[in-house]
Amino acid sequence: MSASGYSFENPFRPGAGHMPPYLAGRTEELDDFRKALRQKTILENVILTGLRGVGKTVLLETFKPIARQAGWLWVGQDLSEAASLTEQNLSERMMADLAVVTSGLLLRTEKQLQVGFGGREVEASHPLGYDDLRSIFDKTPGLVSDKLKAVLLSVWEALSPGNTPGIVFAYDEAQNLADHAGKGQFPLSLMLDVFQSIQRMGVPYMLVLTGLPTLFPKLVEARTYTERMFHVLFLTQLNDRDSRDAITRPIEGENCPIAFKEKTVERIQKTAGGYPYFIQFICREYFDTWLNQHRSGQEMSVSSADILRKLDTDFFAGRWSRATDRQRELMEVIASLPNCDSEFTVQEVADLSKTLLDKPFSRSHVSQMLVSLSQAGLVYKNRYGKYLFAVPLLSSFIKRQMQEQRSMLPV
Ligand SMILES: Nc1ncnc2c1ncn2[C@@H]1O[C@H](COP(=O)(O)OP(=O)(O)O)[C@@H](O)[C@H]1O
Ligand SMILES: [Mg+2]
Repeated sequence: MSASGYSFENPFRPGAGHMPPYLAGRTEELDDFRKALRQKTILENVILTGLRGVGKTVLLETFKPIARQAGWLWVGQDLSEAASLTEQNLSERMMADLAVVTSGLLLRTEKQLQVGFGGREVEASHPLGYDDLRSIFDKTPGLVSDKLKAVLLSVWEALSPGNTPGIVFAYDEAQNLADHAGKGQFPLSLMLDVFQSIQRMGVPYMLVLTGLPTLFPKLVEARTYTERMFHVLFLTQLNDRDSRDAITRPIEGENCPIAFKEKTVERIQKTAGGYPYFIQFICREYFDTWLNQHRSGQEMSVSSADILRKLDTDFFAGRWSRATDRQRELMEVIASLPNCDSEFTVQEVADLSKTLLDKPFSRSHVSQMLVSLSQAGLVYKNRYGKYLFAVPLLSSFIKRQMQEQRSMLPV
């Protein structure tokens, strides 16, 4: 770094879970979360959902200090697929997470601590650690759900009354939770049943789950009562004002050597389509290129086409290359629908394929392929049985690909 004030670091942070330099918008969601924290009896749990890169993880991170400031304890993790394999795994995951908090608290001692089942006593002259929780779990007779419930109830009994309004159980990537009927394992239903049951008993443990748009339909499918158990916050693109803030605020500081011209801000806004990840990505590229040019005394200019190409390679190309030729053909048909950026139906795709392709897709073929594209994380089916692209701005990428192909065809 030279001594001439160029040590200003690129503030933009494209990357899963990286806190942005300025968290734009999301005020409604923050208000809703604050409201949820005011519940004495938990009637409403929270789901934070939306496409990849829309800002779920960083918003969940932002919820944490708010909850703590209101006195709540915060427990949680990413839910890996392994954690959701069996009921036992999920229970262990939750106990391990809970132990992080309870082992740091001075809880009521041995004599006062009663386990829910049979009033047995547990040694807890020290703070409740994982082994203590585990021993309650192991000693409780019955199903895994009885055991987990006993652990959760014991912890609540051990917390001094009036000390905390409750515990938030925050789980990111919760779309990984699933029941596995074939294996007789129902970890997803276990979590829902246990929380519903202890919440009915008046224990203020609140679930805050984050995940892709497949999450909520998945919960409802497992247990219909979840429809009423969760308040769903669907994160979408930032509006114009908020995306402008996300672009400009981070470089407003006095020691920032460069500023974006109005035309640049507009161009970034348009290309990013309000999607936070794309804003961070594009801004970071602009900033780096300009800073280099600035340092070497060059005229500042950036080719948007170059940045777009880099975005395509970094973000889209991997997903695209994993699709088969026929899947790509189908996605090209979808990207040609006027409603490709909102929901579309099997019928619409089949109809359009008749006019666009020599070998069109039948309805049932479209249905089948949409299922495999869902499994690949490229589309998803919403609660009303319609489909949507599961990757933000995928349609523009596909159109760029199609254009490139066309320009490469011999004339
Ligand atoms: N409100 C926001 N304002 C500005 N940037 C944001 C905002 N929310 C998220 N980002 C940025 O977007 C990217 C994706 O965020 P992340 O929380 O990982 O998304 P998700 O969990 O939905 O996939 C990160 O680079 C993050 O810094
Ligand atoms: Mg995330």
